[in-house]
Amino acid sequence: MGQGDVAHGKQLFLATTSKGSCASCHTLADAKSTGTLGPNLDDAFSSSKAQGFSEQTMADVVRGQIAYPEEPMPANIYRGQDARDIALYVARCAGNPSCGVTAETAAPPTKSTSTSTSTTPAAKPDGKAVFTKAGCGSCHTLKAAGSSGNVGPNLDQLKPPKATVAHQVEVGGGAMPAFKGQLSAAEIDAVAAFVADNAGK
Ligand code: HEC
Ligand code: HEC
Repeated sequence: MGQGDVAHGKQLFLATTSKGSCASCHTLADAKSTGTLGPNLDDAFSSSKAQGFSEQTMADVVRGQIAYPEEPMPANIYRGQDARDIALYVARCAGNPSCGVTAETAAPPTKSTSTSTSTTPAAKPDGKAVFTKAGCGSCHTLKAAGSSGNVGPNLDQLKPPKATVAHQVEVGGGAMPAFKGQLSAAEIDAVAAFVADNAGK
C-alpha cells in the first residue's frame, strides 16, 4: 500500500462530505472529534497498539473498514489514495494524541516504512501466531483462532485450500491488503497451512 500523507488524512478525517464526516461519528483525541455514533477510535486501536501491531496492519484494517463498513457507517466515503491517507492517519494517531500530525499544512513526510522489518525467525513460525499478529482475525472469522471478523469471507465456511490462502495472503485482492512485504515466505506458508488445516473445525 505504500506510504500515505497523514496530514492530508487528518484533513479528510475532519472534512464534511455528502456522506458525512468521520469526525461526526467517531471520537479521536488527536482530531479533537467527539462523535459517538461509531466506536471511539482511540479505544478501538489501543489494544492493537499494546499488542504491537504495526502501523501498516492497523491502517489496512481501517482501509478495509472504509470500504466494507456495517450500517450505519457509509461505505467508500473516500476511495483510493484519500482512503489510504485517512487510514494511515487513524493508525498513527488513534490512542496517541501527541502523534504530531497537523491538518492541511503538509507536514514533512516522516520517513516511516517501519513495518517491513520481518526478521527471519530461526524456528518454523507458528501459523496461528502469524494469523493473530497479521490481523487476519480482524477481517475473518476462524474458530480455531478465536476470531470473528466479518470484513472478509468466513474462513470456516470457505475452507480454502492451502495454496489459495498462500496466494491470497501474498497478493491480497478486493479489500484485502497484500502481506508480501510484511510476512516472510515462511510465515505465509505457516499461516496458509494453519488456515487450511483448521478451517471448519
Ligand atoms: C454515520 C456515522 C459514521 C461515519 C460518517 C463514519 N463512521 Fe466509522 N463507524 C461507524 C459505526 C456505527 C461503526 C461500527 C459499525 C462497524 O463496525 O462497521 C464504525 C466503525 C468504524 C471503525 C471500526 C472500529 C472498530 O471498533 O473496529 C473504524 C476504523 C471506522 N469506523 C473509521 C471511520 C473513518 C476513517 C471514517 C471516515 C472515512 C468513518 N469511520 C466514518 C459510524 C460512522
Ligand atoms: C483488511 C481486512 C482483511 C485482512 C486484514 C485480511 N483479509 Fe483476507 N480477505 C479480505 C477480503 C475483503 C477478502 C475477499 C476478497 C475478494 O473478494 O476479492 C479476503 C479474502 C481472503 C481469502 C479468500 C481467498 C479466495 O480466493 O477465496 C482468504 C483465504 C483470506 N482472505 C485469508 C486471510 C489471511 C490468512 C489473512 C492474514 C494474513 C487475511 N486474510 C487478512 C479481507 C482481509
